Amino acid sequence: MNNWAHKHVLDLASFSLEDYSTVIALADRFRSLPETGTRKLPALQGKLITTLFFEPSTRTRSSFELAAKKLSADVQNFAPQSSALTKGESPLDTAITYMSMGADVLVIRHNLSNISAEIASYIDQEGLNTSILNAGDGLHSHPSQGLLDLFTLASFFNPNEPSTKSLSGKNIAIVGDILHSRVARSNLWALTACEANVILCGPQNLLPDDFVQFIDSPPPGIKKDPINKRGNISIERSLKDCLKDVDAVMTLRLQKERMKKSLITDINRYYFDYGITHENLKYCRRKIPVMHPGPVNRGIEISSEVIQDNSISLINQQVRNGIPIRMALLYLLTNRKLTE
Ligand code: NCD
Repeated sequence: MNNWAHKHVLDLASFSLEDYSTVIALADRFRSLPETGTRKLPALQGKLITTLFFEPSTRTRSSFELAAKKLSADVQNFAPQSSALTKGESPLDTAITYMSMGADVLVIRHNLSNISAEIASYIDQEGLNTSILNAGDGLHSHPSQGLLDLFTLASFFNPNEPSTKSLSGKNIAIVGDILHSRVARSNLWALTACEANVILCGPQNLLPDDFVQFIDSPPPGIKKDPINKRGNISIERSLKDCLKDVDAVMTLRLQKERMKKSLITDINRYYFDYGITHENLKYCRRKIPVMHPGPVNRGIEISSEVIQDNSISLINQQVRNGIPIRMALLYLLTNRKLTE
């Protein structure tokens, strides 16, 4: 079914519409497996998936582990606090060590943007066969989260046949700390590729004006945008105006560990202005779904009541959909045609 050309998945700027369709279609098949009584597939038997998380994670790491196990792969998890990192070993040497043990895919999270790309370019220079799957690097990119968010939205708008077309013409709001969010950046590539329009909303210091040009500057190495026609990006400073006419809203945590100094001094004011609460959702013309990549900080960017409101909250579905999306990515990387 696939013409999968990627040896590594480092960001979504290099994804074509066909790539998105391939991932969504495969994830959709994996998601419906339990209905046919299949709990586990032998597809990755004998493959070794290694998770190298240099930064904390609850859902992403566990979800990759579960995805690999559901495809019958062997899984190795690296624990930074008890590793030789504490003796000064570098991330690249850590990666080389795990590759020497035979890792087929290294799933990497690090607080520095581009660590995944550096390790991938070492692999390519050395002619090695290991794939890198970026599970979040600094504030640059988080492709599997962008894909699971896309899959969740496509499934919401078109439950029987989720596809890239399900997003076309939809208006999706992303609210909060956009500046420090790799999730927002990956969502911008994914959503606009499917011709959804993205309305970014937040205060100036969390959302600089130049974000409207975000998709005009693809990362180095991508000469031409693989997408012919993208949706628009706009900025709305007022949540009230932003929510008026959107089809879904995604909110983000204040990512304090990625801020050089505290950018929000009055948390109550921030919650009043930008919090996703039932009060603020009254500005929407219609009932819309609410998303959050997690971890949530209740009472800061979203209320407990909204999180627990099953008639609008897609947060648990995002977590559930992360597993088939990561199964699809691991499957594609380990079964790609070796054209390079
Ligand atoms: C995000 C991340 O780590 O980038 N979480 C996730 O992977 N689901 C978002 C965040 O840190 O706020």
